[in-house]
Amino acid sequence: MSKVIIALGFMLIAIVSGDHPVYWYREFEEITPVGDENVARSNQTVYRLPQNVVPLEYDIYIDLYFAERTDRPFSYDGKEYIIIQALEENVTQIVLHANVDSINAVSLLTSGLPVTLNPIEPFTIEPQYHFLKINLQQALAIRTNYSLMIDYSSAMNEGPMKRGIWRGWYTDDNGNERIYATTHFQPYNARQAFPCWDEPLFKAVFKLHLSRPENYSGTFSNTRMESSDRLNGSRVRDNFYATPIMSSYLVTFLISESFVVIAQDTSFEPPIRIIGRSNTVGLGKQALEFTVDMTKYLEKYFGIPYSELHPYLNNDHVSSPDWASAGTENWGMVSYRELYMILDPRETIMSVEHYAATLVAHELTHTWFGNLITCYWWSNTWINEGFASYFGYAATNEMFPRYEHNDHFNSRYLQTSLSVDSSVSTVPMNHDVNTPAQVTGHFGTISYSKGASFLRMTVDLITPETFRKACQYFLRNNAYKATDQYDLYNAFAQAIKEDGTLEEYSGFDFAEYYRVWVNEPGYPLLTVEINHATGQMSVSQERFFLSASATPSGQLYPIPISFSTRSDPDFNNLKPLHMMTSREATYRKTPREEWVIFNNLQHGYYRVTYDEKSWNLIGDALLNDPESIHYLNRAQIVDDIFALMRSERMTYDFGFKILRFLRNEANYHVWNPAISGYTWLRNRLRHMPDGQAMFDSFILSYMEHAIDTLGFDVDEYETPTISLTRQEILHFACMLGHEKCVRESRERFIALRNNNSWVDPKIRRNVYVTGIREGDQVDFQFLRNRMLNSNFANDQLEMLRALGAARDPELLTQYLQLTLTKAVRPHDKVNSFNFALLGNQENAHTVLQFVKNNVNEMRAAYVEDAPHNPVHTCLSNLAAYLVEPLLVEYEDWIRSTQSNSLQFNTAISAINSARNNMAWGSANVETILAAARDGAVHVMVSTALLVTMAVLALFV
Ligand SMILES: *[C@@H]1O[C@H](CO)[C@@H](O)[C@H](O)[C@H]1NC(C)=O
Ligand SMILES: *[C@@H]1O[C@H](CO)[C@@H](O)[C@H](O)[C@H]1NC(C)=O
Ligand SMILES: *[C@@H]1O[C@H](CO)[C@@H](O)[C@H](O)[C@H]1NC(C)=O
Ligand SMILES: *[C@@H]1O[C@H](CO)[C@@H](O)[C@H](O)[C@H]1NC(C)=O
Ligand SMILES: [Zn+2]
Repeated sequence: MSKVIIALGFMLIAIVSGDHPVYWYREFEEITPVGDENVARSNQTVYRLPQNVVPLEYDIYIDLYFAERTDRPFSYDGKEYIIIQALEENVTQIVLHANVDSINAVSLLTSGLPVTLNPIEPFTIEPQYHFLKINLQQALAIRTNYSLMIDYSSAMNEGPMKRGIWRGWYTDDNGNERIYATTHFQPYNARQAFPCWDEPLFKAVFKLHLSRPENYSGTFSNTRMESSDRLNGSRVRDNFYATPIMSSYLVTFLISESFVVIAQDTSFEPPIRIIGRSNTVGLGKQALEFTVDMTKYLEKYFGIPYSELHPYLNNDHVSSPDWASAGTENWGMVSYRELYMILDPRETIMSVEHYAATLVAHELTHTWFGNLITCYWWSNTWINEGFASYFGYAATNEMFPRYEHNDHFNSRYLQTSLSVDSSVSTVPMNHDVNTPAQVTGHFGTISYSKGASFLRMTVDLITPETFRKACQYFLRNNAYKATDQYDLYNAFAQAIKEDGTLEEYSGFDFAEYYRVWVNEPGYPLLTVEINHATGQMSVSQERFFLSASATPSGQLYPIPISFSTRSDPDFNNLKPLHMMTSREATYRKTPREEWVIFNNLQHGYYRVTYDEKSWNLIGDALLNDPESIHYLNRAQIVDDIFALMRSERMTYDFGFKILRFLRNEANYHVWNPAISGYTWLRNRLRHMPDGQAMFDSFILSYMEHAIDTLGFDVDEYETPTISLTRQEILHFACMLGHEKCVRESRERFIALRNNNSWVDPKIRRNVYVTGIREGDQVDFQFLRNRMLNSNFANDQLEMLRALGAARDPELLTQYLQLTLTKAVRPHDKVNSFNFALLGNQENAHTVLQFVKNNVNEMRAAYVEDAPHNPVHTCLSNLAAYLVEPLLVEYEDWIRSTQSNSLQFNTAISAINSARNNMAWGSANVETILAAARDGAVHVMVSTALLVTMAVLALFV
């Protein structure tokens, strides 16, 4: 996997990783890789397997060895028997995937008799494509069973990053270091564990037989264990029941010295179990509650009980000390990064708990959407990931309404996706991919977030009942099969036809709606011009690009129209009033002068702008009667306004005037896009400390109300959303140097250090970060030791984040050195590196020196060749945080010492982007500060005065 997801200094987005990605809220950006796409896409279908031979059943024997095998420690030997059939005549070569160290022998039998292979070259290996080609003397008989035997051997990967079969470590109750080995195959790494047809469409039955040292007693897989055999040399072979018919990427196992069931509910068939290292026993209660309730909800919603999927399938959820993504939906045995399974009200921060609930629902949804039915090929990854992401919120909202996940959907999926999908290079949900790098790249915002947003928009359009019916048809008609977008369309069409749910939209064609949203890139901007005297509203659409210089596209989108007015605030009515399918349309409202807001609760996947007068009416209402506008629409307005300003469709002056209402705002959903928008701007002012300080004080003046409202004292009964708001607001305010925030946080840190006073996890992030940022060496060593001794992955991560905020270059260097050791888990290395950049602006200087001195150590420790290219990410993130003359120093170093490295082009491109961002900042600083000031004090101030005025004084 060599697709690079590079992060640059702004806004939202994911560090994408094979399956459920880990999100970076607003700090870094996904960009396209540089220089790894040399071959035309049309030529790249050579990466795909021919479909003339298919596997029906695999019998796989894997013997796993650990340190006790002294000649090849941590390795495995495999032998498999695959029942295959040729579907075409004249097949003289069998092509499958293999990415193992050595193929020792291959043979083919039919009806028990050997089939002769080509004596000169019985098989060929093509490493670039991971192909194993078996050359026959004679063509295979069509639709006849053959048994293909492959004997092979390979080595376990060290740590999770390279997927396949890998090993990790943990400490047990007695403080001994213990080993485990497990698998992570999604999307194309089963071929590292056993040669196979490693594309989702080749579904088959898998029977695993795993041998291990006898004292590796914690062994689990997709299905129940059928039997165990004692072998020579203190070894045991565990035989697992055959799996359901499924794709190879969903096969998994875990072999460990002492993993155990840490929580379970045996009233279910199969029992629902949380599995983890032995010293987390008792800490899986909340994860169990999530899995139990989600299983109940989803099996009822889909009308297919879990227990009817397959007689031996488990419902296990593994808490893994290392995991390359957030979670992976292996059928019957889901694995998660431990952070999201070990939840404790006294130790876990709310954003992790909140995310964990959606993650469990997401992975469990895959049981049906992804595992029972599976996208035919990764071009349609969204069929797996869009549904899992949609239900990750919709199902959680039903079972755990306290988290208000339906509201949070907007910032997590909709706004994230609108941001990414407005670039010129965005791709449609159904997007042709072939190479492993392209496959990895398609596990990103478009498949997850746009997929989920499209589905939610469709739920509103066709009604929740019809949507559910369509899901059930789709699952039932395609169970145990691979499916494509047409199968899904047919299920929708059938349900819609039966229910007649679209009859009110005359002339609207659902097929065209589906085609456009699934197969065309981007989304529209709606421009609304209102004649308040007549009530006539003229609406036009065009594709929205963030770049002001993008060439307009002629694409039209079928848009669900909904709106609310002051006299008829209809925000919760989500069934569209009209479907707009033309470039222009006219709608009516009651004639009177009043605000009108389109796109109720921002459920439709589009942006909206208005004529100046209508914007002013909205602006007045936001300022004078904000509660008359639903908070999700206040959030929509903030999100749209930042995008409109960036795309030069609205001036900063005008936009900031509307945003004045933020100074009375304390709502999470409204502040979320505001913090993103302000962060994007302030990142472009980092080379102008005075300008940035003025901008910061402007932002802080707007945050006073929110800070006061939330306070520092947590109310035991407050809602999760309130806790999240405090976490976000205080973290941002402390970073910007808000005096009270810094003081309160630092005091609590000192109490923790001196008296071991418990810090509520709801304010822990800022207490830790501010404690270190404002602290000294004693504070640093205190927190470092606390981190190393903690049993809570979540708390450790928060402490790592904090240690990255050390200002002292020596301490920060110590911190960065720690990332090269096993004290920082492999999946947290890039996180930790980013924390150092985010901790304080001046840290970039120290990080640069560290990179220059340790780049080769980083390549080894961070696993340079892991699928999402961690070292590319670090080198490009660093550029985004440097200003001149450090950028010159960095560029000189890159050009003189790194010109042959894999990261060269990426780093140079990031340096150029950083310069462009600074240039943009220089060109716009006066406009932005003038707009900020104007918005803040609501009087015109000459821009010439700006540089000299003490802005702080105006705001506090
Ligand atoms: C695609 O393959 C053809 C035939 O092998 C070759 O001539 C052509 O140069 C290739 N195109 C690219 C862009 O690699
Ligand atoms: C298979 O080969 C035979 C003999 O060469 C030929 O007659 C037949 O048409 C081939 N079948 C296909 C499907 O190509
Ligand atoms: C071929 O193999 C499949 C899968 O094991 C089996 O179900 C089927 O009965 C076999 N067919 C014959 C003719 O043996
Ligand atoms: C398992 O056996 C190995 C080799 O004898 C030993 O090093 C290890 O500590 C044992 N593990 C457990 C959990 O007893
Ligand atoms: Zn997923």
